[in-house]
Amino acid sequence: MLATKKIEGLVFDNTVHEVLFKLSSNGIIDAIDEPIAAGKEAVTFLGHIDTTFLVAKIYKIETSNFKKLDKYIKGDYRFKKIKNERRDLFLIWASKEYKNLTLAINNGVSVPVPIAREKNVLIMSLVGTKDGIPHPKLIKFRNYDFDLVYNQIIENYCKMLYGAKIIHADFSPYNILIDPITQKITIIDVGQAVVHTHPKSKDFLKRDIINITDFLNKKSKNKITYEQFLEDLKKKKEELYGRNNKS
Ligand SMILES: Nc1ncnc2c1ncn2[C@@H]1O[C@H](COP(=O)(O)OP(=O)(O)O)[C@@H](O)[C@H]1O
Ligand SMILES: [Mg+2]
Repeated sequence: MLATKKIEGLVFDNTVHEVLFKLSSNGIIDAIDEPIAAGKEAVTFLGHIDTTFLVAKIYKIETSNFKKLDKYIKGDYRFKKIKNERRDLFLIWASKEYKNLTLAINNGVSVPVPIAREKNVLIMSLVGTKDGIPHPKLIKFRNYDFDLVYNQIIENYCKMLYGAKIIHADFSPYNILIDPITQKITIIDVGQAVVHTHPKSKDFLKRDIINITDFLNKKSKNKITYEQFLEDLKKKKEELYGRNNKS
């Protein structure tokens, strides 16, 4: 358990209190219960509405880290009007993650269901058990069935790349959750994902493939090359979208 009081102090300013008041008035969330994780840009909490658990990801107001993240915003036509010097990048970030989750889910990618976005707060479904235990990250779950997980990674990444036409850009076993019983995977943390027309999209794609392939190869009997991974993505694309899909 993370030190709740300390973390709450980091993100629970007046704006967040107002947002949570609005969300609860609108019947979206009853309360925030406890922190699940504290990252550089955001703190993620478990919350609930009635007896259903939810997740609230609250982007931190401080801007220092966001400056480094400009490259994911610049070049994405959806955020063309945003000026560099804008100090409220944390608002854009929550909105970007919400948009990316929506795009992904509309294209059949296994991601948390986006529920609401208000200022720097993103509400989504919990990827976990009915009694509120979040599923573990793939990095922590070493006992997985290789083929089962590999096929889901290819299918989901394919749907993101060729269906939603976004590149995750932070794809790794830290941002994949796995149901310990069924071994169904869910991809999370899509705030930095960029549209495929982004000038750096090819670099991000290459990095994603390298990160995930290197991880998978720790377990795979026959080593997968980066070329093989890309080939499998393209095969999946034909299977899902047909031969004439040029994207
Ligand atoms: N919808 C969710 N359901 C369950 N756990 C989640 C969910 N979203 C995030 N988490 C947990 O919170 C952690 C941080 O979330 P993430 O979106 O990866 O943010 P960060 O930018 O801090 O890496 C994840 O590693 C995961 O363990
Ligand atoms: Mg993450």
